[in-house]
Amino acid sequence: MDTEVAPIEMSATAPAPAVPAAPPASTGVALDPRLYIDPELMRAEQELIFERTWQLAGHVSALPRAGSYLTTEAGNQPVLVLRDEHGQLRAYRNVCRHRASRLLSGSGQCKAAIRCRYHGWTYRFDGTLIGVPEGLTYGDRLDKSALGLLPARVEEMCGLVFVNLDPDATPLAELIGDLPERLAPYGIESLEPFAPAEGTQPANWKVVVENYLEGYHVPIAHPGLMRMYDYKHYTTDVHEHYVWFDAPLRSKPSSNRLERLYGQLVRPMPGLDASERHVWHYAFIYPNTTIDLYPDQVNTWKLTPAGVDSTSDVSGCYRPAGADPRTRLVQWLNQRLNTLVLDEDVDLVANVQRGAMTRGYSCGPLSKREAGVAWFADRIRADLGPALNDAW
Ligand code: FES
Ligand SMILES: [Fe+2]
Repeated sequence: MDTEVAPIEMSATAPAPAVPAAPPASTGVALDPRLYIDPELMRAEQELIFERTWQLAGHVSALPRAGSYLTTEAGNQPVLVLRDEHGQLRAYRNVCRHRASRLLSGSGQCKAAIRCRYHGWTYRFDGTLIGVPEGLTYGDRLDKSALGLLPARVEEMCGLVFVNLDPDATPLAELIGDLPERLAPYGIESLEPFAPAEGTQPANWKVVVENYLEGYHVPIAHPGLMRMYDYKHYTTDVHEHYVWFDAPLRSKPSSNRLERLYGQLVRPMPGLDASERHVWHYAFIYPNTTIDLYPDQVNTWKLTPAGVDSTSDVSGCYRPAGADPRTRLVQWLNQRLNTLVLDEDVDLVANVQRGAMTRGYSCGPLSKREAGVAWFADRIRADLGPALNDAW
């Protein structure tokens, strides 16, 4: 593979790049590095962030009919999503009310009810407990009406299903404003999933998120992306609850064979305007959902703590059904090129995690190119609030 890197203009006389405006209320201050290494704060994040925010659960294609289900987590809390007999999505904590067995795993199809695999307690799709084997042996200790499944919130946005354990949470649709309109041309709800993957990255989840939230490192750390991007026109658009990135690709063919081939062969998927042929977009929904929008496919990531210095990444890839061989080749090229970028990013975040433990280090200033990082830091500090005061 070619390793030529496009020149980076850094001199004082270079044309000014298009930099995003800082979000109005941002402090522009990065997170204290203790937030990347403190196990106590990780526990606070579970309660104050992962159990109060909208968490990506999966794609609507896993829930085609009554009884279809998928399972997911809100941080470390198991959740199941299922379609009831009226076509409504329902979500519950994925735990049996008897002795805490996990009820469902993976995704699949329930027949007429949800049946626990341990002792066979059975719940209707509306969560009501309806069957208890040998029920008389409980004497008067069994009050079925008080032992229904514990509900969670669920919403669908453009074919992506989200859950929230907070009964008082603001609806996702209210939080994300015009994001559905930006996603609509991709028709994510009718795309088909392929190549799902799960991995871990050796860094705190916020380090991984912050790496996603800025393109400032691209000229230095991603030679392939730098050959493809029209970096001067890479923009970061910070909204209250989401961040949107435009990454137009260069019109000049890349010196790298695979990148050049991608640029030559890629076509906008049905529904996309011709002007989207050479533009990649990225969307980030607070606190841990990423959506990569390519002309040829859409990828999602959910980033969850697997430990204070380890992040679980669950990815989904979606593409139009029945694509021709040329489109399949483009999608293969895309996966290959972006896998390389991911490898580079994993190395970057591992290095930050190691550095965050350095005694005497405190965070440096953020540039306007890092407006997304500043926004995220403000949100995290606001959500953790009292826990930060207690910790330090
Ligand atoms: S734990 Fe589910 S029936 Fe006993
Ligand atoms: Fe990166």
